[in-house]
Amino acid sequence: MCGIIGIIGKDDVAERLVEGLRRLEYRGYDSAGVATIHDGAIERRRAEGKLANLVKELDRDPLPGTTGIAHTRWATHGAPTTNNAHPHATKEVALVHNGIIENFKALREELTARGRVFDSETDTEVVAHLVSELVEQGISPKDAVAQVLPRLHGAFALAILFRSSPDMLIGARLGSPLVVGYGDGETYLGSDALALAPLTQRIAYLEEGDWVIVTAGGAEIFDRDNNPVERPITISGVTGELISKGNHRHYMLKEIYEQPVVVAQTLRSYLRRMEDQVSLPVPDFDLGAIRRVTIVACGTSYYAGMVAKYWFEQFARVPVDIDVASEFRYRAPVMEDGGLMIVISQSGETADTLAALRHARSEGQKIAAVVNVPTSTMAREADLLLPTHAGPEIGVASTKAFTCQLAVLAAFAANLARAKGRLDGKAEKELVRHLAEAPAALNAALAYDESIEAMAHLVAGARDVLYLGRGPDYPLALEGALKLKEISYIHAEGYAAGEMKHGPIALIDDKVPVIVLAPSGPLFEKTVSNMQEVQARGGKVVLISDYDGVQAAGEGCIATITMPKVHPLIAPMVYAVPVQLLAYHVAVAKGTDVDQPRNLAKSVTVE
Ligand code: M6R
Repeated sequence: MCGIIGIIGKDDVAERLVEGLRRLEYRGYDSAGVATIHDGAIERRRAEGKLANLVKELDRDPLPGTTGIAHTRWATHGAPTTNNAHPHATKEVALVHNGIIENFKALREELTARGRVFDSETDTEVVAHLVSELVEQGISPKDAVAQVLPRLHGAFALAILFRSSPDMLIGARLGSPLVVGYGDGETYLGSDALALAPLTQRIAYLEEGDWVIVTAGGAEIFDRDNNPVERPITISGVTGELISKGNHRHYMLKEIYEQPVVVAQTLRSYLRRMEDQVSLPVPDFDLGAIRRVTIVACGTSYYAGMVAKYWFEQFARVPVDIDVASEFRYRAPVMEDGGLMIVISQSGETADTLAALRHARSEGQKIAAVVNVPTSTMAREADLLLPTHAGPEIGVASTKAFTCQLAVLAAFAANLARAKGRLDGKAEKELVRHLAEAPAALNAALAYDESIEAMAHLVAGARDVLYLGRGPDYPLALEGALKLKEISYIHAEGYAAGEMKHGPIALIDDKVPVIVLAPSGPLFEKTVSNMQEVQARGGKVVLISDYDGVQAAGEGCIATITMPKVHPLIAPMVYAVPVQLLAYHVAVAKGTDVDQPRNLAKSVTVE
């Protein structure tokens, strides 16, 4: 989603602002822009499409100036045109914005009635005019911002530049994250620490409602009631190195290949191998008091939650509700004492999930957050932080975050089971042993990359693709379909294999590849029966199973993908690899933008 960077520098900043935007590209965007102050005037360059277009603009017409702001925009209000690109500016003020100003129509009417003329269709431009008209009346930038912020409904992270105060920026956050970076005689604003990584590691995270005056010498932070506050400066630990593609063609492929290492890294925080026990990073959280679990997440994280529901119910015998975050609040969920909400999110910033978290908290629920960004808003608002240690995930399609989420959730379910007296020492030891096998099994699954690449053409020409699975492999089928549609733009659906005959089987013909996920285990026979129902109707099946499964049921399939034989507990982690690789190779075959697929954003910070 939109990205922000602001610099108060010693030298010209345009080039470094663009470099910061480059590091934010992974979030997804469709236009970009930069503004600086030069010779007492605000100047800006904007372009639709990729950053390369903005760079061309800057090459054609360079932008000097030592204070500046820049933005990548993911369109919400108004098409992704140059005119709608940020920064939005008046003669006095330029600003960039992430989020949505929900009351922008009323504000725009009010401003238009006072004679203000708008250049864009965006919600953002009202903020520029509101601040500008106060500054034009002689009110200081600080007082102008303090007056305008309470008038804005919705979510925002803002960085504002003032013609009259060229050595200062003002930032503000409500709902969308914003960080302050402290350099050597320079100060920065960014929508995350990653954008600022080449500039500084010293980061302060603004809290909800905070706003900040940034100068070269530092930052003065205020809370939503305009009281001066201190926010701790932390060392982000994010380096430029971490986000290179290494030897891989795409971030997505690199991240798929990182899974054995990052899953091992994650499990280290949740398993005590010497004692054959599971553990939690926060040992004193009272798990025994939990009577019900509600899981809320979006997209791939939601599918990780669907898998986890099986584990929580099977191991801990605790009832589990699961909701897509964008629907959760709107069905008036009943939440009782002793309830734990688990939010699952790679970014820890997804607006729908965050809103669900806050709703659950207001209903007296305890909150656990399985997040990959330990400094994110969800991480900071949770009672129990359960980090995944996947490292920065840059590809829009989530891969390594998913398998790490599964690792954390399996270990958490086992912890809950133990706290509930449902897991004896022997069973715990078994479980730890199986979880510890996951990294090697993921490695073994990656060995099939070339054979998956070789059969990708069987799917690349299709218009529709179905994915089938049962039990914990049903969410995997949904995940496989999501991966394929988001990066290859092929229509795909995941179904519970047994549900096919209740409708979707009517779709079967010889042009619809059907990917069947069927690891050996208690559900294998039933899944294969459903697969045969598809084959009996001319369906073209790709079977993903282990050697025994392929031997038993592979005949008549258009292709088979052989996975290592693994315990059912870790099968969802291991079978994530072939569905990720299949989507990847199909997308490459189709020539789509694998890492930044059209219309998508990495971190969805609007509801
Ligand atoms: O950061 P989050 O895990 O909260 O993001 C949730 C979804 O937006 C995300 O998983 C999305 O579905 C991915 N693009 C899937 O690959």
